[in-house]
Amino acid sequence: MTDRVFQRCINPGCGATVDLSSTDFRCPKCGGLLDVAYDWDRLPIPRSLQHFEQKWSDRHNPLNFSGVWRFRELFPFAPDDRILTIGEGQTLCQRSDPVAAYVGAKPGSVYLQYEGMNPSGSFKDNGMTAAFTHARMIGANRAACASTGNTSASLAIYCAATNLMRAVIFIGSGKISYGKLSQALEHGALTVQIAGDFDDALRRVQQVSRQLGIYLVNSINPFRLEGQKSVMLRILEALRWQVPDWIVVPGGNLGNVSAFGKAFFELKHLGLIPRTPRLAVVNAAGADTFFQLYEKQGVRWNNGRPDHDRIERYLKRMDDEDTRADTLASAIEINRPVNLPKALRALEYCGGVVREATDQEILDAKAQIGAGGLGCEPASAASVAGLKKLIAEGIISSDERVVCVLTGHVLKDPDATVAYHSSDPETFEAKLGKRGVKRAAFANRAVQVPNDLDEIVKAIEYYA
Ligand code: F0G
Repeated sequence: MTDRVFQRCINPGCGATVDLSSTDFRCPKCGGLLDVAYDWDRLPIPRSLQHFEQKWSDRHNPLNFSGVWRFRELFPFAPDDRILTIGEGQTLCQRSDPVAAYVGAKPGSVYLQYEGMNPSGSFKDNGMTAAFTHARMIGANRAACASTGNTSASLAIYCAATNLMRAVIFIGSGKISYGKLSQALEHGALTVQIAGDFDDALRRVQQVSRQLGIYLVNSINPFRLEGQKSVMLRILEALRWQVPDWIVVPGGNLGNVSAFGKAFFELKHLGLIPRTPRLAVVNAAGADTFFQLYEKQGVRWNNGRPDHDRIERYLKRMDDEDTRADTLASAIEINRPVNLPKALRALEYCGGVVREATDQEILDAKAQIGAGGLGCEPASAASVAGLKKLIAEGIISSDERVVCVLTGHVLKDPDATVAYHSSDPETFEAKLGKRGVKRAAFANRAVQVPNDLDEIVKAIEYYA
């Protein structure tokens, strides 16, 4: 299989290839990012996307049950008997008219792709099953990541469920929500808390894994992104193979948008879709490197020659001024997105835009998503907050078909949710107010009643 599948530098001017088994995840010639690349002329290609419907009747086969691996012909880097699945990807693409009303879109035009239904409660499992499969193919026995919480929860659960590897997790001290930290601890991961933030932790984990030969599962790992392509395949499946007009996704380390762009590029190249959707990435305003570079400074992929000097100058200024990412959407509290060049490529190919949303906008959107029946964590709600802006600006029209990706479950960050809905001003202030959130426009406050039957009945009759 190796000669038909390999790793390749994304920089078209370099194009160096690397063996499938390499775990450096950096181009040996130019230091650029790598893709998993396929010689499609020598691989079996499905004739149409409907082909995948056959898998539905064969759900007792774990590879066809998995919402990732049932599409494995579109990322054929592993033989079937090496694939490691824990049943990830049983997720939902739900039409949401309440959210459509909130963002100013017509009924029937907004869908939510709910990745919180994964075994570890976030989209990360789509990529982790793929990275884990590659790690197993090359015989790794330890795997590491830096994380704002979800990658670490996912790695921990795969290690615990399979007992094949030891998880080593780097997190920024105080930078991770309790839902996610509790998963790392509960599932037995070695949890290293660094006095710093995610950007510091990601630098360190790359050094440490190189020094100790530990397999790295951050999204710099191109096999992770192969698995994350399946989120787009499930959306197409849910829409009966019709391509939506827009995909809106929160942006942190920019792995998702990179994977989505690659998925659509390949589907189009293979003749499986007639056109691509457009992509919108939404940063948190307190962690908006991608927004600044793409929208304000005009940095583009430029056929593989992005303005590296401009990017470096921007990052250096952040370092010189010690500017730190700062948002309540802790999952995307990232200032140095490692997949930036791949994300630029994805936006060029699909015709993308980037927006930023404040914590206020994110939390209001989150409450409206919840009121509509799906619970997500703050970072995920950035997608809906961004969509609202793009419709107000007229970039997305109210009748276009849009899918917002809800990346993580509401239970990941209960503190933010409880503080938003709290009737206690001190609780609100401690968690949200002091970080710039002024009000909770859609709060659903608990009703305080004395422990008295008549009073309780009276309150219910009054409020319900
Ligand atoms: N949404 C959630 C819930 C996340 O956990 C992340 C990233 C993102 C969005 C951003 O995705 O990096 O592909 O742009 N979380 C990583 C982590 C960084 O460590 O769990 P991206």
